[in-house]
Amino acid sequence: MLSNYLKPRWPICITGLTGVLFILLLGSVSSQSQLGGYRENRLPKPLEDADYLYDGAPPKALYELGRLLFFDPVLSGNRNISCGTCHDPGLGTGDALALGIGEGGHGVGTQRVTRDPVPGRIPRNAQSLWNVGARQYRSMFHDGRLEVDASGLETSGFTNPAGSDLPPGLPSTLAAQALFPVTSGLEMAGQRHENPVADAVADDNRPLAWARLAARLAAIPEYVDLFRLAFDDVAAADDITFTHAAKALAAFQTQAFRSDQSPFDRFLRTGDASMLSRDAQQGLKLFFGKANCVSCHSGPLLTDHRFHAIGMPQTGPGKGHGADFTYWRETGLPGRLEDEGRYRVTFDQADLFAFRTPSLRNVEITGPWGHSGAFKTLEGVVRHHLDPESSLDAFDSDRISLPRLDQVIRPAGRGSVTHFVPLTAAQIRAFEKKDRWVQKSDGLRGRIRSRNTLASISLSREDIAHIVAFLGSLTDPSALDRSDLLPAGVPSGLAPQPAPSGR
Ligand code: HEC
Ligand code: HEC
Repeated sequence: MLSNYLKPRWPICITGLTGVLFILLLGSVSSQSQLGGYRENRLPKPLEDADYLYDGAPPKALYELGRLLFFDPVLSGNRNISCGTCHDPGLGTGDALALGIGEGGHGVGTQRVTRDPVPGRIPRNAQSLWNVGARQYRSMFHDGRLEVDASGLETSGFTNPAGSDLPPGLPSTLAAQALFPVTSGLEMAGQRHENPVADAVADDNRPLAWARLAARLAAIPEYVDLFRLAFDDVAAADDITFTHAAKALAAFQTQAFRSDQSPFDRFLRTGDASMLSRDAQQGLKLFFGKANCVSCHSGPLLTDHRFHAIGMPQTGPGKGHGADFTYWRETGLPGRLEDEGRYRVTFDQADLFAFRTPSLRNVEITGPWGHSGAFKTLEGVVRHHLDPESSLDAFDSDRISLPRLDQVIRPAGRGSVTHFVPLTAAQIRAFEKKDRWVQKSDGLRGRIRSRNTLASISLSREDIAHIVAFLGSLTDPSALDRSDLLPAGVPSGLAPQPAPSGR
């Protein structure tokens, strides 16, 4: 019954009625246009078990296996980073950095530094993982490059960067996602000659990389027992595939990062406005009304799962899209730097510099914000929305703080004869210019600006404060610190990352 709350449908239940009364009450202090949002019932339904994979309750053995894998550096080529290093449950399931350092880094959160040489920094902000186990996720990543295949051509059921190498039998986009970080040289795999997983990745042979990781797990007796417990089709070590690991990782994330107990949820479930502070109530009214945030941040997760270009500044080295070679000409170091977002997936001009609308659940604790972590404050990223083009031009890229990369290597030679040479001090200075290049270039910044689709809107300082208060009401108190998820040890015998007591 509660799930029908605020659907335009009769008979309406008592709680629904309270909600409607609340809305009328709010409406009495606002103009007709502000009221419009409510009349169209733009408030989402509350979340319930059926909205999540496994109806929110994956089998315990699968969850436990997934938990150990998530924090076990054994899944990284050089055994030096886990999923949890970048998606730290003590840091809002992110890493608290605008752009993180992948394998080769040392330490967690803002303390992270390079220890071993790395070829560069991670080009995008680590997404938070709150509610990624919701069934409504049909695409993954800021650009949705992994998504449910509508054409029926893909044997795996997903359009994805590995094409037909992605194995069939992956039950969800979330499970399919887990196959990618481990085959990213920067994130988890490492560089050629460092380890056999990295070698397979460098040879563009992802299936071999997945097989090598599965073999690693199969060589650890405790994991074999856990896989047998979790899967009917695993009788012996040889039966373990990376797909099994991916399923377990998805089961873990579904349950661990479900987060639907915020004041906003309590309001949705009861219709009782007193669940929200007065400021948050005003903010809610703006969000679903005059400020029209709901036109993109819609539904129970406050995202339409679509892609929009909103003139977000790019910080960092980008994804190497685009066609601009000025950085290369000036520094002698290779590089095209733009991050063209969704365009590189669809090659549709309308998608240039578009990124997936992020869910706003727990958004207060998932900063820095934006696809490359450009904004350090929540208010800052909200203000960006009010006048995206001026905000982009005014954005001072020198304000951005990124962890220093003190040892940078770059490949020399080709194919299997590749080796890596460290950059000299002068080259590192040129290399660091990469991080600010796009924003500082009138031409490149102008391209981002020209694609903006978000109309400006005028809001008072008070309005903005109210919206920020509403965003605060999306925080589930239990999400503030989920360090309780960290295992004391993992079956590989390596130190789990992040360490349960290392903060
Ligand atoms: C080096 C840091 C790093 C590591 C390690 C890492 N991730 Fe991520 N994760 C990211 C970044 C950055 C993104 C966004 C990438 C993009 O959009 O191109 C991301 C995106 C995701 C997403 C997509 C969320 C969404 O809303 O679309 C999921 C799920 C995820 N990671 C899970 C994992 C799992 C599981 C592992 C371990 C197998 C892992 N990550 C390891 C940094 C990392
Ligand atoms: C046209 C669609 C659209 C509208 C309208 C919109 N947003 Fe966004 N919002 C986005 C997209 C897309 C992003 C991510 C852009 C990027 O990173 O490049 C975003 C990012 C955000 C973020 C940062 C989230 C994060 O995890 O980094 C916040 C906070 C936010 N929006 C709040 C709002 C508020 C408040 C409003 C209303 C004033 C609003 N948005 C209106 C599309 C929209």
